[in-house]
Amino acid sequence: MRRVMIAPSILSADFARLGEELRAVERAGADCIHIDVMDGHFVPNLTIGPLVVAALRKVTGLPLDVHLMIEHPDRYVPDFIRAGADWISVHVESCPHLHRSLGLIREAGAKTGVVLNPATPLCALDHVLEMVDFVMLMTVNPGFGGQSFIGAMLPKIVSLRERLDAVNPAAGIEVDGGIGPATIAAAAAAGANIFVAGSAIYGQNSYEEAIRAMQNSIRL
Ligand code: DX5
Ligand code: ZN
Repeated sequence: MRRVMIAPSILSADFARLGEELRAVERAGADCIHIDVMDGHFVPNLTIGPLVVAALRKVTGLPLDVHLMIEHPDRYVPDFIRAGADWISVHVESCPHLHRSLGLIREAGAKTGVVLNPATPLCALDHVLEMVDFVMLMTVNPGFGGQSFIGAMLPKIVSLRERLDAVNPAAGIEVDGGIGPATIAAAAAAGANIFVAGSAIYGQNSYEEAIRAMQNSIRL
């Protein structure tokens, strides 16, 4: 998963019109759809579950990138995959048996991702890097859209790319939080290739211009 991809996060979309909001970013050039699942325990916010993912599955052919910010994610992975999730990522911080959790996702046939909060060191991934299709680095503390990119994550992206190149060069690096035209170039230069953006797309009048602005910043 080394291709450059823009992944709009529907967290900042109009929830009363989610289907239309998905189609709109698909038309505007999105490469996949990022879906933030929050349980009010692992993060201090509540969002959506498998029923909504199943409904969204019907309105787009783009990969659905499901980011589980929940406790006990193993319990819900099969439900999200049945609902149509193509990629599932789980947090190191909510998986005491991380090797098992990643194995469950892989066996169920979804692209397998692992996520680190900003304060979690890369060594938490030491024995599982070979098992993943992508690693996602949080570039804000998870729970809410519209926060500022944490610049201290740039060297973390660089080190992660080095580690992946040594053991799993096909794996991608996704970054999530505070990504927009002003921050995407630095994240890309550090080694990220999948870019989640919520407010930088859904907070703009033209989704197409917002996505193009990010693509252009990477090409510079
Ligand atoms: C935060 C979520 C993000 C969020 C990003 O916990 O994981 O995906 O939607 O929003 P922005 O792009 O506005 O920082
Ligand atoms: Zn997310």
